[in-house]
Amino acid sequence: MHFSKVLATAALLLSASLGVSAHAAIAPVLGVAGTPVRNNVQRPSTAKPCGNTNIAQTFDTSGVITMNADNTFTATITNFNKGVDGSRQIVSALVDVTGTGKSFTAATVTKNGTKNPTNVGSEQLTVGLPAACQGGATKNKCLVSLKTAGGFGNCVVVQNAAATKRSATAAPRRAEARAGPSRHPEIE
Ligand SMILES: *[C@@H]1O[C@H](CO)[C@@H](O)[C@H](O)[C@H]1NC(C)=O
Repeated sequence: MHFSKVLATAALLLSASLGVSAHAAIAPVLGVAGTPVRNNVQRPSTAKPCGNTNIAQTFDTSGVITMNADNTFTATITNFNKGVDGSRQIVSALVDVTGTGKSFTAATVTKNGTKNPTNVGSEQLTVGLPAACQGGATKNKCLVSLKTAGGFGNCVVVQNAAATKRSATAAPRRAEARAGPSRHPEIE
């Protein structure tokens, strides 16, 4: 029985026929306003983790993803072709907490995408960062580079979760204390 072999060969031929122009982008793409299109996709590499995008020129003006309190964030990845070339699975996730693109360290993908998607569409990714962000003019942004199993991807800008306010419950007590002005008669 060589049925499974035939299937495997067919799958190989099919993925080869899909060509090399497949892409996937993670929104919001560094330096791109609005929903990403195929041409916004980069090929992140060790030398250029954001591909050909100029980091210094785009970092402070790019759309941002706000982190959760536990230093994780969710992003949407969209592929423009099926198959591994249009993979929605992240194989490299890097973060530069200074936002300059010069000191990347590893980030953790806690919810990854589909390696070999049979459709064209979007999926949610969850990524965890090892430390708080301190980059950009506001000193609260990180640069994150995401590369798929197909070798495509891009950078996104992530910012720290808003600080929690803690003093909101203090006021009512004072009013309560003031509410009883009756003095005890002096006992002698
Ligand atoms: C994404 O998921 C795959 C399969 O679970 C895993 O091999 C890969 O390491 C993950 N990527 C990252 C960056 O953790």
